[in-house]
Formats: sequence, C-alpha cells, structure tokens
Amino acid sequence: MSAPLPRALLPDAAAVDPDGMLTIAGVRADDLAATYGTPLFVYDEEHLRSRCRAAVAAFGDGVAYATKAFLCKAMARLAHEEGMHLDVATMGEMYVALAADVPPDRLVLHGNNKSSAELRYALDNGIGRIVVDSFDEIDRLEAVHAETGQVATALLRITPGVEAHTHEYVSTGQDDSKFGFTVSTGVAASAVERALASPAIDLIGIHAHIGSQVLVLDSYRQAALVLAEFSVPLGLPELSIGGGLGVAYMEGEESLPIAAWGKVVVGACRAAGVTARITAEPGRAIVASAAVTLYTVGTIKHLEGIRTYVSVDGGMSDNPRPVLYGSGYETFLPRAVTGARPKVVSVVGKHCESGDILVRSARVPDDIAVGDLLATPVTGAYGHSMGSNYNKVLRPAVVFVRDGEARVVVERETLDDLLRGDVG
Ligand code: LLP
Repeated sequence: MSAPLPRALLPDAAAVDPDGMLTIAGVRADDLAATYGTPLFVYDEEHLRSRCRAAVAAFGDGVAYATKAFLCKAMARLAHEEGMHLDVATMGEMYVALAADVPPDRLVLHGNNKSSAELRYALDNGIGRIVVDSFDEIDRLEAVHAETGQVATALLRITPGVEAHTHEYVSTGQDDSKFGFTVSTGVAASAVERALASPAIDLIGIHAHIGSQVLVLDSYRQAALVLAEFSVPLGLPELSIGGGLGVAYMEGEESLPIAAWGKVVVGACRAAGVTARITAEPGRAIVASAAVTLYTVGTIKHLEGIRTYVSVDGGMSDNPRPVLYGSGYETFLPRAVTGARPKVVSVVGKHCESGDILVRSARVPDDIAVGDLLATPVTGAYGHSMGSNYNKVLRPAVVFVRDGEARVVVERETLDDLLRGDVG
C-alpha cells in the first residue's frame, strides 16, 4: 500500500537528485515550479520524440499523431520533425498545425460533423487527407466541388462492430456509434460505391478507430480482420487502423509498447491479405507519460474518521478526466519521489464543486504539508487539451524540458486573457 511511485509512470528522463528531488531531463521540479509557477505541465521533450520515432518505426510513413491528445505549435512541429503526419479533427486543430508550419499535405482531417466551412478550409489549404464520416459530408463535399472544382483525397471511416473494452464514452468501434459507416448493415459498402462514383472524392483508403485507452490488443486484431475483409476487395492503397493504444496510469497497470501494437496490427492485416499502406493515429501513447503536472498544496483538511482532503491550486480545469471518466491517477511529492506513501488522502482542486476530485485515494508521504509541491504523473494526454477556464481559473503554462533546459511552449494565461472577446 505504501510503495513509492512506480518508475515506469514517470517520463523517460526523470531522475532523482541526491536530496530526493525529482528532476526531468536534468531540471529540478522545485526550480520549475519556482520559475514558472504552478499548476504546470512539464513535458520531457526527448520522451515525446522517442514515442514519435517508435510510431514511425512501427507503421512507416503515414502514421499520424492525434493532436486532440495535446496540441500546441511546439508539439505539432515536434511530431512533424519526427516524421509523423498529424490527425486534426476541427478547424481549430488544423489552424494550429498550419500555424506551426506543418505542411498541409501532412494533415489528416477527421470529424463526424465537419462543417462546409471546415471542408472548404481544408481543401483551400491543400490538406492531405479527409476522412469522410457520413453521407451528409459527401453532400457537402459535392457542393464545394460544384462551386470550386476541388476534389478531396479521402478515406472512408467505417464502423467495424468491434468492442474496444474501454470506457463507454471513448468506445467508437461498436455499431451504436455516431462515427463512420456501419459495416454490418451494408451501409459502409454503399458509402464506398457513392464515394467511388463522386466527382468530389478521390477515394484512397479505409479507416476505422475502435476507441481510446485500449489495452486489449485482441480488439485491434479483430478490427484488422474486419477492415481487411472489407477493404482488400476494393484494392485501395491505404488502410488506417486509427488510434487508441492505451497507457498505464496507475501502479499495477502496464503500457503496451507502440512497437508491439504495430506488430499486431500490421501482422494481422498482412496475414489477412492487406497489401495497402497500413497507418495509425496514436495520440495518448505518444504524449501521456511524457508529462507530469506540478501543483502546490494550499489547504489540508483532516476529517477525523472520514478522510483527509488535500487541496491543490488546479483541479478539473486542468484535468477533467477523473470527473468525466472516473479515471485514476497516482500522486507523489517531487521532494520524495522514491519515498514511501503510507497516507491515503483525497487530492482535490480549487473549483466550487465537490466533484472536483483529482485523485480520490491518493497515496502520499505522512509528512505532506501546506506549501508542498505535489505531482500527478501521466498527465500529458487529454489534460491540457480538455482544460477549461471554469471558475475563471487561468490555464496553466506548459514547459518542455530537454538537456538540462526548460522552455515555455504555452504561457500561463493572464487575467487579461479572461476578458479577451468579452466586449461588455
Ligand atoms: N483517431 C481518431 C479518429 C480518434 O477519434 C482518436 C481519439 C484518436 C485517433 C486518438 O486516440 P488515442 O490514441 O489518443 O487514444 N478524452 C478521452 C479520449 C478521447 C479520444 C477521442 N478520439 C480521454 O481523456 O480518455
């Protein structure tokens, strides 16, 4: 119960200084907090790069980083530099990726409800691929084509009817889904017919995404079989298995290496006769364990016989995952990374609701005190990107650390930012 934080949950470049303090890429956590304030997202840049390289090694050219997991210009540039394409799912994600000078032909546009404006923006900017999700979208592409003559290089997203064994809110491969064209009902086959006949679409492939935080490789094997059966007769040059590879968040969980995922997916597809280029779109597996969030403990409330609340200076506005999905996280004190954690407390945020819980049963050292730095590991995915300004709390800064140096890639919001656009 009181074991120290498992090393595997920390970024690759994490280490411990002689006085017990966490360092990442040679930079001390307490120095980071003193310089940049808390809450603070700290990413190990080499860790990010190595996961991108692993994805390219596992799948080859065409594998895309799913930017919804974490996006800023530095991240977009990094993924591009390491050879990944970028999956963007809205005009906003496209805009940020383009602002980072990622060449448009390296972008793949997703979304179950792309607007005409988004489709036009994509076509006007020469976006590499559009993953078509519905008949209404085909109508919209045809309307744009009728006006401008533009043709979308496209994949069709199909729903393979595969259970991903993950949280209901992030399962997308089952038939009851807002995403894609259903295979089992024949709708996917009709969509292919329509796309092939459409002057607005140059159909180059089939895509499926079964869900997120998937730790059961067999789900991918099954999806690969359905995809292969559906797509091989079409003879199209590309096949995307989507993203979703899960990571370990808690002690006792184990991440599957990107290489193992690639081997299973590519192996299953090839064995089923796929000759097309096989690609994927990992998000979480690239960024989740690259980061830790640093908070400052502000209030400790001990309720005899009930529980101890440890309040930190962030909360559901920088990590809504516990509230949304009941997701678990570990906690530790950066000053005692390798120390025992015998005390069980609830780490909560500063928002005005009781649901603002970051870690319900957090293990911490006995001597935790007001003013301590407290960290949650594996916060690199869907934390910053799903953050909010609830209670007009300012979004935290993001720093990348590498070779003993830290650099701010996203500045902490200021009070003035809260009034931008508020025209009274
Ligand atoms: N491709 C498509 C089409 C997707 O919809 C997603 C994620 C990905 C790739 C990347 O999935 P990843 O490799 O990151 O699992 N907010 C939730 C996760 C939502 C995922 C949405 N789609 C969470 O915090 O768990």
